[in-house]
Amino acid sequence: MEIKGTGHFVPEKILDNHYFASILDTSDEWITERTGIKERRVCDPDKGEFPSYMAEMAAKRALAAANLEANDIDLILFSITIPDMFFPNTSSVLQARLGMTNQCPCLDISAACSGYLYGLTIANSLIETGTYQNILLIGCEMTSRFNNWEDRNTCILFGDGCGATILGPSTNGPSKMLASQLSSDSSKREALILYAGAAQKPITEEVLKNKEQYVTMDGQQVFKAAVKTLAANCENVLKTAELNHEQIDWFIPHQANLRIIEAVAHRFKFPAEKCIINVQKYANTSSASIPIALDEAIRAGKIQRGQNLLMAAFGAGLTAGAAILKY
Ligand code: UT7
Repeated sequence: MEIKGTGHFVPEKILDNHYFASILDTSDEWITERTGIKERRVCDPDKGEFPSYMAEMAAKRALAAANLEANDIDLILFSITIPDMFFPNTSSVLQARLGMTNQCPCLDISAACSGYLYGLTIANSLIETGTYQNILLIGCEMTSRFNNWEDRNTCILFGDGCGATILGPSTNGPSKMLASQLSSDSSKREALILYAGAAQKPITEEVLKNKEQYVTMDGQQVFKAAVKTLAANCENVLKTAELNHEQIDWFIPHQANLRIIEAVAHRFKFPAEKCIINVQKYANTSSASIPIALDEAIRAGKIQRGQNLLMAAFGAGLTAGAAILKY
């Protein structure tokens, strides 16, 4: 499998840390020191900015980079936590937005922040078995819809955005997925949770009063689990790919918290120059974070064909994943 093209989209509207300091008991210093985040993007629903809109923009950029037409896509995999609507799935909405007429299959993936790496692994299997030729993999999140804007513990952490990747059989000799490891530790499923709004707990006045329609998180539990699981998964994929840390050209981690990224990078002795980091600009865009970082680094000319990319993510579930891809 190889990456044929990438693209991303982030909304124009920026909320910086000073905005949060003006509405909550927080400060730019606290947020910067504890998370590395300076600002994040948020959709403007009045302008029609929803997940499928962001995905359309990112997908068009990826199609142009891959030199493909929308109807060349034969499968859409769409990682998303809060979709446009419960159904139809957002991948089908995207198919329509892209003007596709080939009726290709459309599948949404729900694995929170790890969803892009889940999708990458599924895509690899489907491509290596010859089932599909041009898979459009989307990581897209409108986290501003699950944010409780009165909860300083969570709302400062997230941002909206979308990354798109087109994957197909390798035409460029060495391009290959060298290893992948996915996991989910359900014993910690309550550490990061959105209780209400679905089958178990529909929206009621009581739910709205308790703000259960928003995300709640035990930040410290997630932090500790993230560092441990990311390190273990990276270790495993390095072993499977029979590579040592020096043979990794770029580390592209899930952009949740700079301290988590630095802890894992330190564990593997990755120097800062090898780490793709944009958490300061976009905050945690959940499953969009890796494909946005990947696209930015490719477009900046940092990532070159033949280089080894190590990607690693974790999120609600607690799902996690790591993959090594020769670009
Ligand atoms: O994709 C996965 C998504 N989740 C994550 O990646 C989250 C992982 N966890 C984290 O990133 C960190 O745990 C946080 C950034 C959420 C919190 O950082 P921390 O260093 O673990 O802080 P803490 O939870 O130990 O809180 C320290 C203090 C608390 O006050 P008290 O109880 O010590 O008086 C919090 O109430 O900081 C307080 N606090 C804040 N203060 C100012 C929490 N949020 C804020 C805030 N501004 N925004």
